[in-house]
Parts: sequence; structure tokens; C-alpha cells
Amino acid sequence: MAGYEDLIGREDINDLEAILAVSNTDMESAIHTVESNAEAIFTWDYDKGSRSGLDRLYEKAKNSQWNGTTDLDWSVEVDPEEVVANNFIAQNPDGGIGFDPAGTPFEKWSDADWLKFGVESNNWTLSQFMHGEQGALVCTAKIVETVPWIDAKYYASTQVMDEARHVEVFARYLDSKLDGYYPINAHLQMLLDDIIADTRWDMTYLGMQIMVEGLALAAFGFMHMMTTEPLLKQLLKYVMSDEARHVAFGVLTLQDVYSELSDAEMMERQEFAFEASVRMRDRFLQQEVWERMGVPAKDAIQAVMLTPQREMFQNMLFSKIVPNCKKLGLLDRNDKWLRRRYEELGVIQFEDWVDTEAEYEELQAKELVTQP
Ligand SMILES: [Fe+2]
Ligand SMILES: [Fe+2]
Repeated sequence: MAGYEDLIGREDINDLEAILAVSNTDMESAIHTVESNAEAIFTWDYDKGSRSGLDRLYEKAKNSQWNGTTDLDWSVEVDPEEVVANNFIAQNPDGGIGFDPAGTPFEKWSDADWLKFGVESNNWTLSQFMHGEQGALVCTAKIVETVPWIDAKYYASTQVMDEARHVEVFARYLDSKLDGYYPINAHLQMLLDDIIADTRWDMTYLGMQIMVEGLALAAFGFMHMMTTEPLLKQLLKYVMSDEARHVAFGVLTLQDVYSELSDAEMMERQEFAFEASVRMRDRFLQQEVWERMGVPAKDAIQAVMLTPQREMFQNMLFSKIVPNCKKLGLLDRNDKWLRRRYEELGVIQFEDWVDTEAEYEELQAKELVTQP
């Protein structure tokens, strides 16, 4: 596994020291700027419905708006420690920590330490969701400007509203139910910056709608299934009902475009998909949590994150991305380039799982996504 310096800034995908050397050094600043390079496009073709799939999504989106202030029960009291304890019991029914702590930084950890870690980890995870949602807000506003078709502009405008609501509810949850939030993870920031800086409108879609949102959909689903906290469960269910539509929008839009691209153009998309996958995988090592817990990140990650159970969970996060990449023709063009990379990352087994456009159609047929 070597030769990725140009794409991801290191030769070996699994070089832990290189991954941890990238950290957020901009914790004090209240804003972060990145050059958004793209042409804003007007279209004079106002023929609504000429792209019927996008038009249907737009009509659906107009009827699926919810209000984060009034539709969620914010009176619920949340005890972060109890939430973590319940999650822990669900994941470890035998009460063990899932590995032998001897010789690791966790040798002397008490139950209280593990509980504190769980609370921090939960807070970190929700914080990164919130930052990712802001990335989606900015990206979809950009898509409104840059996509050339009126049906896509209409649809994207509804997604801007959806994403504003998602940022709002995660921020409110972190602020009022938990103990504030963590700054953005540097790997996530790098990815969002790359997506926004790209000049090509389809790259905003690929980076945000397919990669970041595809992963979010899987991660939200997992947390929704796991948590016993009623407000968070409800919040995630509402957010997920929007996200499924967003990923379907990405697949639907890019499918036509990508079937016409040259090999060289496809190669750039394949490399971008790979880079995004690696950045997202790196961020899930949650290096900031280990730092806050006062344990060396590298040792902690080797003990906890590189266990088979944990790797299985991390790989599951790609269960939406891989089938969607396959549907877009990204896996096998250019001598199966992206397929080979996903084999190295250990996530190719998801290629024949249901893609999000098909899944969305199924959910719609069962009327599960009309109203959250
Ligand atoms: Fe969102
Ligand atoms: Fe979204």
C-alpha cells in the first residue's frame, strides 16, 4: 500500500503518525474562510419538470419540511451519562470493554473513566455531525448557483433549508442538552475545504451529496438504532428522512453526467472519491477525544480503534457510499481503479447493497419518507 502522496499527503493509507500529525490548529478563531471557486450559472430554460426525477424530489421536499423548534420535544431532560451507560450495555452485553487493557493506556481506567470517555465521544460525534451539516448548508447553497438545470436549482434550494434546520437542531442539542461542542476535526475540515474550493459543479455533488452525506446517512442510522434517548432518536429520525432524499438527489443528478465523461475526467472523480473516503476514515479515529482524555492518541487508537469489532463498525459507515459509487460508474472505470482502492480500505463488500436512489424509491413506495 504505497504511492498515495499526491492524493492524500502520505504514502501509506494506514500511516497512523501521519494521520495524527494533521490536527486543528485554528481553535480560537470564530470563522474559517475558504475560496469558493466556481462560475454562477443562470439558465433561461425555465421548463419545470424536464428532468422528471428531480422534479418529483422537489415536490416531495416541499411537502416534507418540518420545524426543529416546534416538531421536536425539547422539554426532554437528557442525562449524558445515562445515555452513554445504556449505549455501552447495548454494545457490550457481557459488561466487558471488548479487549484486554493490559499494556495499554487503559490498564488503570476505572468505570468512571470509561463513562467520561463515552460522554466525550458522544459529544465529539454529534459535534462533527453539526460541522458536517454546516458544510452541507454551504455546499448546497453553492449548488443552487452552479448547477445549470432549473429542476436541480429548485431542488437544491429546498436542501439549503433542510441543512439549515439540521445545523440548528444539532447545535441546540449540543448546547442545551450536552456540554457544548468540540471544534471541527482537521480531516473533516480538509475535506470540506477541498469540496468547496473545487471549480467543477459536479465535484460539490460528489464530495457532499455522495460521500459526506452517504457516510452521514449510515452513521445517523447506526446512532438512531443504538440510542435510547428519546429526543436524540426523534431528531435523528427527522434528519435522516431528509438525508435519504439528499443522497438520492446526488445519485440522480450525477448518473446522467458521469455516463458521458471521458476516462481522464472519470479518473479525477475516482481520485476525489478515494481522497474523500480516506479523510472520513481518518476523522473517525477521533484524535481530539483521546487528547482530552489525556492518553496518547496513537497508543489509544491502536488498542481501541484497530480491533476487529471497531473496524467492522467503521467499515459499515461505507455501506451507502460504495453502492452509490458503483451506480455512478466510479468503481470500475479506468481498470477498476476505485474498486482496487476500496479493496485496500476493506469496504468493497458493500458494492451490491442497495443504492440510495433505489432505497429512497422503496421508502417512498411504503410512504415512510413523506412525513418524518
Ligand atoms: Fe443534513
Ligand atoms: Fe443533507
